[in-house]
Amino acid sequence: MSVRVALIVGSLREGSYSRAIGLELKALAAPGLDLDLIEIGDLPLYNPDLETDDAPQAWTRFRAEVAATQAVLFVTPEYNRSIPGALKNALDVGSRPYGHSIWQAKPAAIVSVSPGAIGAFGANHHLRQPLVFLNMPTMQQPEAYVGNVATLLDDSGKLTSDGTRDFLKSFTDAFAAWIEKTKG
Ligand code: FNR
Repeated sequence: MSVRVALIVGSLREGSYSRAIGLELKALAAPGLDLDLIEIGDLPLYNPDLETDDAPQAWTRFRAEVAATQAVLFVTPEYNRSIPGALKNALDVGSRPYGHSIWQAKPAAIVSVSPGAIGAFGANHHLRQPLVFLNMPTMQQPEAYVGNVATLLDDSGKLTSDGTRDFLKSFTDAFAAWIEKTKG
């Protein structure tokens, strides 16, 4: 049976390396692991005052799209040694109204991406903190820190490195096994 996975990218940039890696992961995933890219760039900043019957349409759209999936793959850059605000906002939007979190118990995995050498390690680990509170069983191993990403992609955003392709493929396979093990 196939598993629908929300693919959430922490960058809003059109030429985003993280988005390119996310799309490569989608292409590499084994049949039966269907990655759906879910957009976060149009989500108004979370404000409990807007949590009414007339809540922002983008919040409703986002919540419905993630709710229709069984797991979540986060692919994120690092901003100032943490996660981008847009990604934190998406986590907050999905976590409410209280008691109706769309993240609840969904298996998760994280791929962090940077043109720098340390592969957005800070973002990868900061993201793990809210995922604990959101009760998302998050894959521990293998870890994925994609560093020096600009050297791994061609101008159209396709991977040029066989080693990275093999690693990302094995990562998606491990995630499929993790979902099978942890999903409710
Ligand atoms: C960055 N960048 C960055 N890179 C990094 O490795 N560690 C960091 O702490 C930061 N901090 C940071 C803050 C802000 C506000 C910006 C805009 C950028 C650089 C970042 O890795 C680079 O812009 C990537 O290209 C962003 O990822 P996308 O958009 O290509 O996916």
